[in-house]
Amino acid sequence: MIRSLRTSLVSGSLRAFGNTRRHSTGEAAIDQSNRPGLPRVTIDVVIAGFKCAVCGTDVDIGTPFAWRCPQATADDPYHVLHIVRSDSLPPALDDPNPFLRYGPRLAWWAFAQANGMTGDACAAITREVAADFVVTSFERSDALSSELDLDLWVKDETGNVAGSHKARHLASILMHLRAAESLGLLAGRPPLAIASCGNAALAAATLAARVDWPLDVYVPTWMDDAFGSEIERLGGRIHRCERRDHDPPGDPAMLRFRDARDAGAIPFTVQGPENAYCLDGGRTLGWEIADQAVLAGVKLDRVVVQVGGGAFAASVGAGLGHAVRLDTVQAEGCAPLAATWDRIASIEQPERYWSQVMRPWPEPHSIADGILDDETYDWIAVTEAMVESGGRPIVALERDIVRARQLATDAGFAVSATGAAGLAGVLTAREHIHDGDHIAVVMSGVAR
Ligand SMILES: Cc1ncc(COP(=O)(O)O)c(C=O)c1O
Ligand SMILES: [Zn+2]
Repeated sequence: MIRSLRTSLVSGSLRAFGNTRRHSTGEAAIDQSNRPGLPRVTIDVVIAGFKCAVCGTDVDIGTPFAWRCPQATADDPYHVLHIVRSDSLPPALDDPNPFLRYGPRLAWWAFAQANGMTGDACAAITREVAADFVVTSFERSDALSSELDLDLWVKDETGNVAGSHKARHLASILMHLRAAESLGLLAGRPPLAIASCGNAALAAATLAARVDWPLDVYVPTWMDDAFGSEIERLGGRIHRCERRDHDPPGDPAMLRFRDARDAGAIPFTVQGPENAYCLDGGRTLGWEIADQAVLAGVKLDRVVVQVGGGAFAASVGAGLGHAVRLDTVQAEGCAPLAATWDRIASIEQPERYWSQVMRPWPEPHSIADGILDDETYDWIAVTEAMVESGGRPIVALERDIVRARQLATDAGFAVSATGAAGLAGVLTAREHIHDGDHIAVVMSGVAR
């Protein structure tokens, strides 16, 4: 029963996604014609555009600033644009920078080319915004493998730009903006806006500083002063957000961010419903894992990743394709996605009932403080990726999060509790995983 109803979720969304999902297996494929030494190839635009996963509205890839579904309003914000691709993926290019290696697969690149920009000009923007991104390491951890009696592989994002994977999501938004600007589609520079007091804010400030684009960072009143100083050092403007008398429920920082966006600021955020382009660059993570697993000769059984707002898991799922089972991990003190998963078991096309099935988690708490989003904003994409790959949400015990951070640290990873939460999910679910299975986790978020 549950299975058939979950299947109806996917088929409902398959219609909404057009032909995207049919090709997700192909996303994990490697094109052997692109090994080092071979000439670069000219690539046609391969991204068809965006489609709202809720109302089905299409947005052409050539549309500038296609952040949100055009049907989204203050009264009905429950829309999210998802990337629709055409039939085949361009091969990976021979470049250590993922934004060049996979450049022609990216939506921002396709947008620029649809508006007449050359591939060389796209590469130049990539070098301006994202020159220091490199394919991060993906290796078997012998220590963790023997500890858990599994074949455990770690994608290590702790050394990525600004210490986490978050900059991957934001780079594609900024490259879209730089492309629009040089195409003459943008008059002036509206400020970038983000609500975050963690890895995403640091990534936003790091990238914005590179192109000298003004950035407003909306943070809770309790944010650590040292963190605020670092953002300010990078040129970001910090706004501490108090709850106001007439505020509706919800995070005041998020409310002020939305006010700023409504006043013309650019949503520079890692939440798909606020900016679809964050799900674009995030996919480089999944493509890298897919390529690196092939090169290492490992056929992954599953990838187990932590979920806050969900953009991270959505991107890993989209990049890896449904051949690899995607399990997601939240903390027992904040597990809105798992609650939604249970609710939608008996609902057809649950995306139509967003506000009823995805409800804010009351009083989130965990030492994994980067995944305390009370709502999983990208729940539709994450749920689809789990359904299609045969995965499920795992609610990690808090004591497993503590243990995972310790195990990861002892194994040589300088990772935060948030970044070790995927491993915590493996611990919690260990008895349901076969000995020796090939499992990947992503350690993101350097310990600070
Ligand atoms: C290190 C780290 N991993 C994972 C996540 C979860 O990402 P998302 O909010 O996109 O689900 C976060 C979010 O802040 C993070 O900082
Ligand atoms: Zn819509």
